Amino acid sequence: MQIGNLRLTLPALLAPMSGITCLPYRMLNRAFGCECAFLEMINARALHYCTKRTHQLMPTQKEDRPLGVQLLGCEQRYVCYAIERLREYQFDILDLNAACPRRKIVTRGEGAALLKDPQRLRDLLKVMVNTSTQPVTVKIRIGWDDAKSARDIALYAQDSGIAALFVHGRTCTQSYSGTVDYGAIREIKKSLHIPVIGSGDIFSVPQAKRMMDETGVDGVLVARGALGNPWIFAQLRAFFKGGLTMGYPEITEVVCVMKDHLDAFIALYGERRGILKYRKFLIWYTRGFSRVKQIRHRAQQVKTQDETVALIEEFKGCARRYPSCVTRPA
Ligand SMILES: Cc1cc2nc3c(=O)[nH]c(=O)nc-3n(C[C@H](O)[C@H](O)[C@H](O)COP(=O)(O)O)c2cc1C
Repeated sequence: MQIGNLRLTLPALLAPMSGITCLPYRMLNRAFGCECAFLEMINARALHYCTKRTHQLMPTQKEDRPLGVQLLGCEQRYVCYAIERLREYQFDILDLNAACPRRKIVTRGEGAALLKDPQRLRDLLKVMVNTSTQPVTVKIRIGWDDAKSARDIALYAQDSGIAALFVHGRTCTQSYSGTVDYGAIREIKKSLHIPVIGSGDIFSVPQAKRMMDETGVDGVLVARGALGNPWIFAQLRAFFKGGLTMGYPEITEVVCVMKDHLDAFIALYGERRGILKYRKFLIWYTRGFSRVKQIRHRAQQVKTQDETVALIEEFKGCARRYPSCVTRPA
C-alpha cells in the first residue's frame, strides 16, 4: 500500500487512539510486527497555546517509524500553525480528524462535525496539502447520522489532493455502537482513486479479511483489537505475508509482555503516573481469560510497581477461555 511517498508492506496500521497510542504502546505493537502507527491525536489550537499536555503527547524515537500524526481542528490558522510546529518531527503522515464523535469536540465544529460541511472539509484539507511536506490524509466516519452522504464527503475530501482516506464504518451518532456498514465503505472505495483504509471492529484476522473482501479497501486500521492484544499484529503479519494462521500466546508469554509494558510506562512516566496509565491495559490483557474478576477489580487500585507486578504474577494462574474471546472488547 502506498500513501503518498510512503510505501507500506503490511496493510494494517495501528489507529490513532487518544489516551492510548503513546510511545511505549506504539513500540510494543511494533515489536509484534506493527509497521505504521499513529500518535495520539493532537489538538491544533492547544499546540498553538503550547499546553504542556500537548507536548507530552509527542515523544518519539528513531525506531518509532513510520509514524502518523493526527490533528484535531477546524480553523485553518491553527491547523497551519500546527503543521509548521510539527515539521521538525518529520512525521510520515499528517492526518486530519473528521471522525471524533465526542460532544465536547463536535460542539466546537471539530472532529466528526466537519462531515456536516464537506466543502469546508475539502477547503481545510486543501490548505493542509499546500502547507505540509508530508502526505496528508483524513479520517472520516460514513456520515453524521446516516450514510447517505458518505460518497460525497469522500469525493470532496479526495478533491483536496489528499494521499489516502481512512473511514470508520459507523456514523457519528452511532459512536462505537451498532454494526459497521461495509456497504458504505465499499461505495467510498469504489468512487475514489486514492487508497482507502477501513476501520471498525478489526478484532481478529478474519475480521480484517472480511473488511478487505467485502469493501475492497486497501488496508485496515487496528484500534480496540490491539488493546491488551499486540499479538494481533503478529497474526495479521503472518496472514498477509504468508497466509498463515497463528494461535494465541501462552499465559507465560502474556505475563512477560505485561511486565515489559509496565516497565516501559514507568520508565517514561515515572511510577505514579505510569501505573495510573497502565491500569486499564492490565485489565485489557485479562480479556478472554477465566476467573479474572478479582484481578480486574484490584487492577484499579494498584499504586506501586511491586503491587502491580505481584498482581500480574497472580494472573499467571488463570486459564484462557474460548480462544476467540481474546479478540472482543470487555
Ligand atoms: C480509546 C479510543 C480512543 C480513540 N481515539 C481516536 C482518535 O484520537 N482519533 C481517531 O481518529 N480515532 C480515535 N478512535 C477511533 C479508532 O481509531 C477507530 O476508528 C475505532 O475505534 C473503530 O475501530 P475498532 O472498532 O476496530 O476499535 C479511538 C478509539 C478508542 C477506542
